[in-house]
Amino acid sequence: MPDSSAAGRTSHPRAQRVCVVGAGYVGLTAAACLAHLGHSVTCVEANPGRLEVLRGGGIPIHEPGLGELVSEQVANTRLRWAADVASGLGDAQIVLLCVGTPPSPSGQPDLTQLAEAARQVGRAATQSLVVVVKSTVPPGSCEAIELICAEEARPGVSIRVASSPEFLRESRAVEDFLSPDRVVVGASDPEVADLVASLYPPASPVVRCDRRGAELVKYAANTFLAIKISFANEVAQLCDALGTDAFDVLDGVGADARIGRQFLNPGPGYGGSCLPKDVSGFIALGRSAGVRTSLASAAQEQNFHARNSISARLGKALGTLSGKRIGLLGLAFKEGTDDLRDSPSVQIADDLVAGGAEVYAHDPLVPRSATPAGVTRMMSSFEVIDGADAVVIGVDSEQYRSLDPLKVAQMMSGDVVFDAAGACNLVSWGKAGLTVYGVGRGTPSAFYPVVWPPLCWTVGMPADAVY
Ligand SMILES: NC(=O)c1ccc[n+]([C@@H]2O[C@H](COP(=O)([O-])OP(=O)(O)OC[C@H]3O[C@@H](n4cnc5c(N)ncnc54)[C@H](O)[C@@H]3O)[C@@H](O)[C@H]2O)c1
Repeated sequence: MPDSSAAGRTSHPRAQRVCVVGAGYVGLTAAACLAHLGHSVTCVEANPGRLEVLRGGGIPIHEPGLGELVSEQVANTRLRWAADVASGLGDAQIVLLCVGTPPSPSGQPDLTQLAEAARQVGRAATQSLVVVVKSTVPPGSCEAIELICAEEARPGVSIRVASSPEFLRESRAVEDFLSPDRVVVGASDPEVADLVASLYPPASPVVRCDRRGAELVKYAANTFLAIKISFANEVAQLCDALGTDAFDVLDGVGADARIGRQFLNPGPGYGGSCLPKDVSGFIALGRSAGVRTSLASAAQEQNFHARNSISARLGKALGTLSGKRIGLLGLAFKEGTDDLRDSPSVQIADDLVAGGAEVYAHDPLVPRSATPAGVTRMMSSFEVIDGADAVVIGVDSEQYRSLDPLKVAQMMSGDVVFDAAGACNLVSWGKAGLTVYGVGRGTPSAFYPVVWPPLCWTVGMPADAVY
């Protein structure tokens, strides 16, 4: 978290006048952090609901530390709000485009918001400036945006476009922006690259490349992370079949410094607003460039399997989902966020409802209004557990990790727990009398010795094993 001891005033050696377009997870974080670093920032948000919350002194998303930082920077007048680019651009030297690039059915991102924002900047610019694309966009987009801006710009106004993709993680956005692993800057000339690099915290490691390269870094990085998660789920499937524990196996695998332990956790598959969309984007990119992206496709396929398998396995464990009361702990796509976009837990909820179950869910951060259709929201995890035939843990959060299994067992009417997120200690939950299923946790019923020739003693899987 940033040090606010100096009332949020730090001075940046090259303070700039910046306009940030879009006040979502990326734009709002960038705006507040850039103001904290000493830049003078106007943040433009087109959604009236979001803008009203900002103008009222709140923030429209959940992000630890961000509300405090925004309040500080608004109070010291380094951060201001505007409803549109025409009124917010002013004399900004740099414009950051942080608008959404949601997935489209073809797998390619929908760049409508970005094209419109570029047109607005082109029309509003009264002096030459640099546009930095922080949204995730396929290679070639910055070049196209530069053409759009040029088409709209008045004579004598030059708008140069650079790429600097964002790598922040939701729930750690402020920390990631202020202490990045790296900053990537893609520009067509070194002067622009210097200007863009000068926005960031002074000690940030900067990777410079051309614009297409910078745009591709983001897709390649997210696709690699998705491949790691899908690989962990593939190992988990083997562990379930062999009756061993994937977390132990992956501890052993990830201890190799060349591999690393992060993102090697089995579970209900990757989700959120970035990984699924960016893997699809990477595959679509390969398709249009005539390049095979078979690893990305395999990761995607494994992810579909990981997501779909949870409700199917639970149905098998319970005999049927129909009429069962099921408690679901966690709805967001991971711990510490309110973001439901492409959340595996939401898919689990939808699948359970479609299977005829009565689903009761808890998530402390997700607004009640965002509850998936057919699901009843409860205020506490214990209300969800009370009287449940089965409990599904969909998000690995401290709150669920620290549940007392004895209390859970007493409150449930059934005994089946499906720990999709890998939050439980299987031994203590099992000792409490619960039957715990998980992803890659093996199960006593699934344990059959498999011994290879010439040690020929192979036993088939039991027909009723729940994997
Ligand atoms: N969310 C993440 O963790 C994350 C991380 C890295 C990169 N990204 C990428 O960054 C981009 C933004 O993601 P996000 O999660 O912040 O999206 P978001 O949907 O939360 O926010 C985008 C905001 O832009 C606003 N907007 C759109 N057009 C506008 C315009 N012309 N003028 C003013 N405001 C406008 C929207 O109203 C919205 O509030 C996407 O390309 C995403 O892939 C996201």
